[in-house]
Amino acid sequence: MSQPYYLSTAISYPNGAPHVGHAYEAIAADVMARFQRGLGKDVYFQTGTDEHGLKMAQTAREQGLTPAELGAKMSSMFKTMADDLGITYDRFIRTTDADHHRAAQALWKKLEERGDLYLGRYEGWYSVRDEAFYNEDELFKSASGEKLSPHGTPVEWQVEETWFFNLSAYQQPLLDHIAANPDFIAPKSRRNEVVSFIEGGLRDLSVSRTSFDWGVPVPGSEDHVMYVWLDALTNYITGVGYPDGGERWDKYWPADCHLIGKDIIRFHAVYWPAFLMSAGIELPRQVYAHGFLLGEGGVKMSKSLGNVVDPMAMARRHGVDALRYYLLREVSFGQDGSVGEEGLVTRVNAELANSFGNLAQRTLSMIHKNLDGVIPAAGAEEADAALLEKVRVACEEQLPSHFEGWSFEKGIEAWLQAVYACNAYVDEMAPWALRKTDPERMAAVLGTLAAAIKPLAEAVLPVVPTGAQSVLDQLAAGEGGAPIAKPTPAFPRLEMKTEDA
Ligand code: MSP
Repeated sequence: MSQPYYLSTAISYPNGAPHVGHAYEAIAADVMARFQRGLGKDVYFQTGTDEHGLKMAQTAREQGLTPAELGAKMSSMFKTMADDLGITYDRFIRTTDADHHRAAQALWKKLEERGDLYLGRYEGWYSVRDEAFYNEDELFKSASGEKLSPHGTPVEWQVEETWFFNLSAYQQPLLDHIAANPDFIAPKSRRNEVVSFIEGGLRDLSVSRTSFDWGVPVPGSEDHVMYVWLDALTNYITGVGYPDGGERWDKYWPADCHLIGKDIIRFHAVYWPAFLMSAGIELPRQVYAHGFLLGEGGVKMSKSLGNVVDPMAMARRHGVDALRYYLLREVSFGQDGSVGEEGLVTRVNAELANSFGNLAQRTLSMIHKNLDGVIPAAGAEEADAALLEKVRVACEEQLPSHFEGWSFEKGIEAWLQAVYACNAYVDEMAPWALRKTDPERMAAVLGTLAAAIKPLAEAVLPVVPTGAQSVLDQLAAGEGGAPIAKPTPAFPRLEMKTEDA
């Protein structure tokens, strides 16, 4: 039986159109899901939308819609984005799904049975944009004197009757768990951040609201709705069959990794494990927090600066493969990084079109033209063997070990070095010149290149599924000695376009 692997993304607030940060997370998770499937694992991959809470309710009101209407309309945009970017999710979950309501209420009852919920009055700061409570000492003042959350969002003073979760009781258990499981929070910098937050002292958490009703009703207290984060985090267990259990639950829980952005680490690495501990549910194996995408020059993307990268426009102009490749290659995974259209075009042309694409195209065309399309056997000279060994190490050892540790850019870099080695080999061997002088050697050189291109395409398949599959299909047509057709470029050169073509 193959080993299970459960990976999730955060579920996005569908209060606006998806932006490149959402696309980035979905793509990174998809590359990991495809990579793990390639290793033979039985993958369950979940993504979706987080539709309750005050932020959704307020946005809906501004737009003259009900929150349910807004959620349905915008959630479908997120689903379309995922589909258009080739995201191979197994379930697109919505927190408005009926099974999710049931799971959230079941989890609530577990916390209650454990004696971890009590009724009280919350008085404190709340950021609707972050859907988060903050202590006074976490806030700072803007230039105009307005109080802001650590993420720079406005806060309001909230006074409300709420249910509290006994978070303070989990301070030591959480620290113990993090100490005993060094990979639970990654990268390391995030773990340190979480540990110091917990060590600073955990206060009980307000987990219900009474001033609005857009949420999952609290069982037994129908005038309360569950705090949107308690509701949203539950999606990770809803998707695998909580509370009923069963085959999917046994197979996939605990999740292997929750992939999230660094801004929501506290919810995933403090609140969520505390809820699970309280409910007696195993904790996920890892929470991995990626960095933030910024506009060119490292500034936050904003409409007024005109530096917003629209992932769908980018995919339409340059192709899905180009966008996927660029985002994972450009930014060190786990860190923040700047992205922009010029950077995409330059990098994709240099690395995909001119390097790998051209390598595959040149090799296949020479085989097509000079060898009647029949793929020859690889050569047996030292240079041939050395090249194939370099390719093998890059594709079978370096790229997989970097991908396994979420270092996509390093894995791609190792792959690219092998591509460069192939191009250097072509230039050195000059098969076009051998055509007349030594046709046998020409065939051996082209055979070596064909033998190199196949593992290179397979290795990069999770990142650029369309182009890499096209190379593999073109090669596969030649299996068993059948002639290959006139090749078509798998990674065309891009042009800088400002308007949608
Ligand atoms: N709804 C919550 C998550 C609930 S998970 C149980 C939420 N939604 S969000 O729409 O604001 O963000 C969704 C994901 O996108 C988060 O992981 C967030 O970090 C990520 N990103 C949002 N903007 C981003 C960038 N500019 N760059 C990279 N990722 C970013 O938070």
